[in-house]
Amino acid sequence: MPNALGVPSPDKAAYMDDVARAAVGYKRQMLTLLELEPGLTVLDLGCGPGADIQSMADAVTTSGRVVGVDIDPRMVEAASARFHDHPHVEIRLGDGHTLPFEDATFDRARMDRALQHVADPAVVLSELLRVLKPGGLLRVGEPDWDSLTVDGDLEMNRAFNRFVCSTMVRNATIGRRLARLARGAGFEVQVVRTASPVFHDFALADNIFAFTRNTERAIRAGAIDRADGERWLAELQSGDFLAAPLVFLLSARKPL
Ligand SMILES: C[S@@+](CC[C@H](N)C(=O)[O-])C[C@H]1O[C@@H](n2cnc3c(N)ncnc32)[C@H](O)[C@@H]1O
Repeated sequence: MPNALGVPSPDKAAYMDDVARAAVGYKRQMLTLLELEPGLTVLDLGCGPGADIQSMADAVTTSGRVVGVDIDPRMVEAASARFHDHPHVEIRLGDGHTLPFEDATFDRARMDRALQHVADPAVVLSELLRVLKPGGLLRVGEPDWDSLTVDGDLEMNRAFNRFVCSTMVRNATIGRRLARLARGAGFEVQVVRTASPVFHDFALADNIFAFTRNTERAIRAGAIDRADGERWLAELQSGDFLAAPLVFLLSARKPL
């Protein structure tokens, strides 16, 4: 579980909305891959405050249905407030390990950066297989935090990634394991793609990747020397900035 080490975290719903605004191209790619059409029933597991639900609801129209599920009551409250007047959108509190749906309920299922946080990704993928109809499509987008690339001191980039992977994110390298896990759960893997949004604005990237917050946590945990950490943060803010995360996009199908 994330270890805050006394460093405050931002409001979770606002953070997810910020990410959605900063990663519009990636979000559009995820939507296109879902191959939505009017009348389809879609599950968004780990929906957060519902950043992607409006576009999915528009695509399936009122003849279809979008169901957002999240384990965090604050996310369910935020998403429910947004979509209370959309009869074909339903937001539910639920855990991906035990989904509250009958077998073969959905035509499509998606997770966007949520599998990285669950206790057992294999169980969650088995649940997604169960609730999809035969031939139903699964789309999952997950980062690989060992591959976050930052222009500047390479050793500090590596030390930062090591700390995030060991301490901050439960399944930090889930992205590279998606195809293997999906096959293990019984899916046919169609294709794995990558997406790497490039950030040039330090303040924006810092909000999303928590360079300042996580470097401070790594310093407090003894994983990074304070002088090295502070020098690195100053370097990142001093001139040309570039950071790019590696995100894997899995396209898979439930066998007929
Ligand atoms: C990084 S956020 C992504 C939210 C949203 N998919 C988006 O793209 O904005 C991950 C979400 O997964 C949810 N989550 C984590 N574990 C879960 C679980 N076991 N079942 C359902 N949701 C879960 C979290 O509460 C959080 O809202």
